[in-house]
Amino acid sequence: MNFKDKIDSGRLPEHVAVIMDGNGRWAKKKGNQRIFGHKNGIKAVRDVVEGAAELNIKYLTLYAFSTENWNRPKQEVDALMGLLVSTIESEEKTLMKNNVRLLAIGNINGLPKDVAANLNKLIDKTSENKGLSLILALNYSARWEILNAIKNIVEQNKKEDFDVNKIDADFFESYLNTKNIPDPDLLIRTSGEYRISNFLIWQIAYAELYFTKVLWPDFRKINLYEAIIDYQTRERRFGQISEQLN
Ligand code: FPP
Repeated sequence: MNFKDKIDSGRLPEHVAVIMDGNGRWAKKKGNQRIFGHKNGIKAVRDVVEGAAELNIKYLTLYAFSTENWNRPKQEVDALMGLLVSTIESEEKTLMKNNVRLLAIGNINGLPKDVAANLNKLIDKTSENKGLSLILALNYSARWEILNAIKNIVEQNKKEDFDVNKIDADFFESYLNTKNIPDPDLLIRTSGEYRISNFLIWQIAYAELYFTKVLWPDFRKINLYEAIIDYQTRERRFGQISEQLN
């Protein structure tokens, strides 16, 4: 029995989120520049998107560029932005063919104009696709998202008689970038780091966390299957006790 056959299709995570980490170390190990790692990271992105679509996973979120990543050397930031534009352009056919809907979270207006324009074009083009929703977190950080939500709540509810008790979890979530997207069930981080790094902090409150030592450019469908098989061994209690679950 191969790994894929071990997956219980009735208990799939609806939403898988991934912190793709280790591109730089992968390149360094091979005696190459960091950007070589990012370029090979695209191969992993392709394989994992295909793997998630084949399994009928509904949502896949990839942490592609954080608000803190601007602090990297300019050469690396420029190369990453260039890679984004070329990937967005080259993947259009594949996304359409595989019925993938592209979405983005993060401060998209703060990206270079050509990146934002290409991205928005592909988001529009794929908006009617009904298969996997692929969400790219770009110029994203959870603290930025939460602060942005608070600013918008205050800005848009400036009435004197606004009842603050209206602010429950559903109300707050309607101001997040992930509005209408279910919370991740499974969060994967590659490269052996055990951190959340400002990613989807509100949304992963009840996610199952999975850490692997595999560096992102080496990550393939089989590694996704392993993560899902591990996820399916977890008991998700959401604060209840085992006996209450069935
Ligand atoms: C983390 O590795 C990776 C990133 C910050 C960028 C991820 C981007 C890609 C895989 C390419 C673009 C993606 C899409 C979806 C088009 P790192 O550089 O932090 O590695 P290190 O920790 O080994 O230095």
